[in-house]
Amino acid sequence: MAMGFSLPKLTKILVAGDEATRRFFAENFKESGFEIHFSDSYIGAIQHLEDGLFQIIVADDGIEGMSGIQFLERCKTFAPDILRVLIVRNGDTKVLLDAINRGGIFKILMHPLDVKEVSAALSDASVHYWTEKEHERLSNLIKEQNTELVVRTLNLDKEIYERTSSLLNGLVAALDLRDSDTRWHSKRVSLYSRRIAKALGIKGEELNQIERGALLHDIGKIGIKDAVLLKPGRLTKEEWEEMKKHPEMGYRLLEGSDFLEHERIIVLHHQERYDGKGYPQGLKGKEIDIGARIFTIADTFDAMTSDRPYRKSLPFKIAREEIIRCSGTQFDPRIVEAFLAVPPNEWREIREKLEGRDINQELANSPKPPPLTQNPIPVSVQDTEKPKV
Ligand SMILES: [Fe+2]
Repeated sequence: MAMGFSLPKLTKILVAGDEATRRFFAENFKESGFEIHFSDSYIGAIQHLEDGLFQIIVADDGIEGMSGIQFLERCKTFAPDILRVLIVRNGDTKVLLDAINRGGIFKILMHPLDVKEVSAALSDASVHYWTEKEHERLSNLIKEQNTELVVRTLNLDKEIYERTSSLLNGLVAALDLRDSDTRWHSKRVSLYSRRIAKALGIKGEELNQIERGALLHDIGKIGIKDAVLLKPGRLTKEEWEEMKKHPEMGYRLLEGSDFLEHERIIVLHHQERYDGKGYPQGLKGKEIDIGARIFTIADTFDAMTSDRPYRKSLPFKIAREEIIRCSGTQFDPRIVEAFLAVPPNEWREIREKLEGRDINQELANSPKPPPLTQNPIPVSVQDTEKPKV
């Protein structure tokens, strides 16, 4: 849309007045460049306003037993933008005050009418009207362009977000492949975390943040040497200290991404434990981000129900019992409850959908889960595994 200034335009003026007033305008403003229409009554003038667009109305005060101010007030109903000019026959203060306070009058002209004065008033009104209109047009144009700009910015944010997410997904996939024990691990854990979060009543964008945080949880391992990360068997004290740096490394790696603020915290907290015995900060209970508290359950569940080089995947029942056993120590009991509330077949569905294979046929025939109060079975999977990081 062009933004050029478009003044002046043809100004249509309606004169509602007695014979002398109409004659004055007819004689003096015939060649003025204004298009002037006449009415000898207020009713006739209103009919004109209903029929066509006028920019200025000039009205004599007090024809047809109605004050000019009352008439001009009514004109606002039919033509809200029209500029109103009142002609008065004396300098009655009340009439002048009413004109200003009630009528929204643009100009007051006094009888006897003076050609120069009337001409100046009409020119002022005309310029004022078209300037206002131009201002309105430009304001609308700016509003339109602002809206367009907002939409473009949103699209740009979406594009940056999608590109960054795609880059991070690639990095996570590469990491999972590097550590062959955990192929598909990050993606599965992210979907499990989302499901637990949903069971906790978490909604909207926070669900996405928790899913992404869980997906990225071990992104810091990118900075861990192969000799340490891929070492079979136990790590030395020094190697273990290096491995324990990966949450902070991941946190720092995501520093530049404004839209991953929550995800960064999940990454930083993902090795913390509910009882404060985790790392790197030894946070306790609710000091640990909810996304990270959710993640630790999803992570343990996935570790137990996945094949490892040194053992086959464990049945769902065993994984479930281990999670119950660790409620209140490793895990937040409220989140354990949410995990247990998810129908068992859903875990299988998530896994199958992701990998296209069945992890545990027994889930299909799984009986109703026993209550939480059942005596826990003393199985510690972690004892049989490579140190969990
Ligand atoms: Fe980790």
